[in-house]
Amino acid sequence: MITLQDIARLRAQVAHWRAAGDRIGFVPTMGNLHQGHLELVRRARGAAQRVVVSVFVNPMQFGPGEDFNSYPRTLEQDRAKLAAEGVDLLFAPGVEAIYPHGSGETTRIEVPQVSRGLCADFRPGHFTGVATVVGRLFNLMQPDVAVFGEKDFQQLAVIRRMVEDLGWPVEIAALPTVREPDGLAMSSRNQYLTAQERQRAPVLYRTLCEVAARLRNGESCFTALESGAAQTLRNSGFEPDYVAIRNALTLEVPTGAGTPQVVLAAAHLGKARLIDNVRV
Ligand code: PAJ
Repeated sequence: MITLQDIARLRAQVAHWRAAGDRIGFVPTMGNLHQGHLELVRRARGAAQRVVVSVFVNPMQFGPGEDFNSYPRTLEQDRAKLAAEGVDLLFAPGVEAIYPHGSGETTRIEVPQVSRGLCADFRPGHFTGVATVVGRLFNLMQPDVAVFGEKDFQQLAVIRRMVEDLGWPVEIAALPTVREPDGLAMSSRNQYLTAQERQRAPVLYRTLCEVAARLRNGESCFTALESGAAQTLRNSGFEPDYVAIRNALTLEVPTGAGTPQVVLAAAHLGKARLIDNVRV
C-alpha cells in the first residue's frame, strides 16, 4: 500500500492507474477506522480495481467548541488496517495541502435543501464543510465510485445532491450502518463514552426501531412519536438534539402515504454526540 500526503504525487499515481484502464474506488474518512469504515473499503474493493482511502480530519466541518482538537487520530493503526484490506493507496494530507488559503478562506460548496434542518440546525456550516472537502477530494482523485455509510444519512443526501447538481461522473454507493452486537452504531465518537454511558448507548437505536415499528403499524401522528422518543432518550440520560421522521429521499417532512420514510436522531450522551437512523 502506498501512503501519500502530497497532491501532485497522488494525481500522478491515480493518472497512472487510470491510463492502465483501472477503475478507481474511493472511501473518504476522518480515520480512527472501525469495522464500519472497513465495510466501505470492502465494497470499494468489489467495485473497482484500485482502492484509495483518505484519512483527513477536516477542520472546516467542525464548529467552534466541537471536538476537532480531541478527535482521535490513529494513523499508524489505520494504515495497518487498510493494508490488511488490500487498499492500494492511503492519502493522508495535511491541512495546508487541502486548504492552501486556510479553511476559512477556501472556495466552498453549499448544497441547498438537504443540508438544512436536522443536524444543520445544531452544527451550522457543518455540511458546507463536508461538501467542500468531499468535492475537493473528488477532484483530486477523480474516482469512478465513492462509498459512504448510511449512518451519516443527511451527509449521504448532501453528497448525492452535490454530485447530481454539479454533474460529476462519480457513482455514489451507500452501505447500511454497521453496528455493535447490542445495536449501537459503530462510531469513532463512541470512545468518548464512559463504561456506564456505553451500557445505555444502545437505547438510541432501540428507540428509533420502536418509532419505525409504530409507523409500520400505521401510527401517523409524527410529532407525538417524535416527542415521545425524545422523552424516552431523556429518561435514559441522553440530551437529544432532535428525533425526526422524514422522507428518506428528500429529508422533508413526509406528506402522504407511500413515501419512503426514515427516523433520524442526534443526541448527546456525556461527551459524545451520537447520531443514528432507521429506515421504515
Ligand atoms: P467518518 O466519520 O470517518 O466516516 C467516514 C465514512 O464512514 C462515512 O461515509 C460514514 O458514513 C461511514 N461510517 C461511519 N460509521 C459507520 C458505520 N457504523 N457503518 C457504516 N458506515 C459508517 O463522515 C466522515 O468521516 C466525514 O464527514 C467525511 C465524509 C470523510 C468528510 O470529511
